Amino acid sequence: DWTMDAYKDIAIEKIREQVGDKKVICGLSGGVDSSVTAALLHEAIGDQLTCVFVDHGLLRKDEGLDVIAMFRDNMNLHVIHADEADLFLGELEGQSDPETKRKIIGRLFIDVFQKYANEIEGAEFLAQGTLYPDVIESVSFSGGPSVTIKSHHNVGGLPEKMGLKLVEPLRELFKDEVRVLGHELGLPASFIGRHPFPGPGLAIRCPGEITRQKLDILREADAVYIDQIRKHGLYDDIWQAFVAILPVRTVGVMGDGRTYDFACALRAVTSVDGMTADYYPFSHEFLGETATRIINEVAGINRVTYDITSKPPGTIEWE
Ligand code: XMP
Repeated sequence: DWTMDAYKDIAIEKIREQVGDKKVICGLSGGVDSSVTAALLHEAIGDQLTCVFVDHGLLRKDEGLDVIAMFRDNMNLHVIHADEADLFLGELEGQSDPETKRKIIGRLFIDVFQKYANEIEGAEFLAQGTLYPDVIESVSFSGGPSVTIKSHHNVGGLPEKMGLKLVEPLRELFKDEVRVLGHELGLPASFIGRHPFPGPGLAIRCPGEITRQKLDILREADAVYIDQIRKHGLYDDIWQAFVAILPVRTVGVMGDGRTYDFACALRAVTSVDGMTADYYPFSHEFLGETATRIINEVAGINRVTYDITSKPPGTIEWE
């Protein structure tokens, strides 16, 4: 794509002009936006960039390892792996209110990010993967009524607090353009095409109280579900797909025995921008096969349901 190739060169020049020989910190989540931001900055300023990857213990199966392997080992980026699962899960213990959970995670995320960023001596810039729709959204919401359905956590206000200047090289781009740019930068297609993943991670796919046991079960079930979707060639037709573990145990039979395990819900939606969404019309065969696999392969789940709520009136996530 020659237009994006040209855009890339211009963006790199702009970054070099803005940053000079100063150091830049970039929060890496493993999502498309922050990954492309990091790759672009790396190409522009090389070793002047340090990434901080905050692992809150609410990531999917093998996600932390995958992100580190990709950026540190394959792309030679300097990545600090902030493994703070104990801190996050400790503070979340006993909390079941969705907004409280989000606020705890958002606050700790900023604390942790700041702690690790402070160790990077002489940094003057903070890079963020803000997209054009984010820019418009924050403008149009600022004067309007303060109706918040979910307080999406981000690192808003952090740059000022830390005395850092912002670098936002994706500010003029839409999501599909970011993907093309990522491709130009050599990121693998599997990474670029990943479904969006929310900042609070599995916390909002585990309605009610979060426990390590529930998270482990959820990670396994989600991995089987995504494997099924990939095997059936459906991944790219879907905007987001995930499992939510429900805060309820149900009775089942397996072999000669009675089981009393968690129920889970499969979620899959199509969407253009996440603002509205339709549930994905899987075939009954697919759903049946997936339910059987999850119950057979994941200890701790004995019942699988499919969420057929569209947005509105539902939201994509369960909390
Ligand atoms: P909802 O559930 O509000 O989700 O229909 C719409 C899109 O936003 C994502 N989402 C979040 N992303 N922090 C994030 O960074 C959050 O707290 C959050 N809540 C929802 C969700 O995954 C979907 O893509």
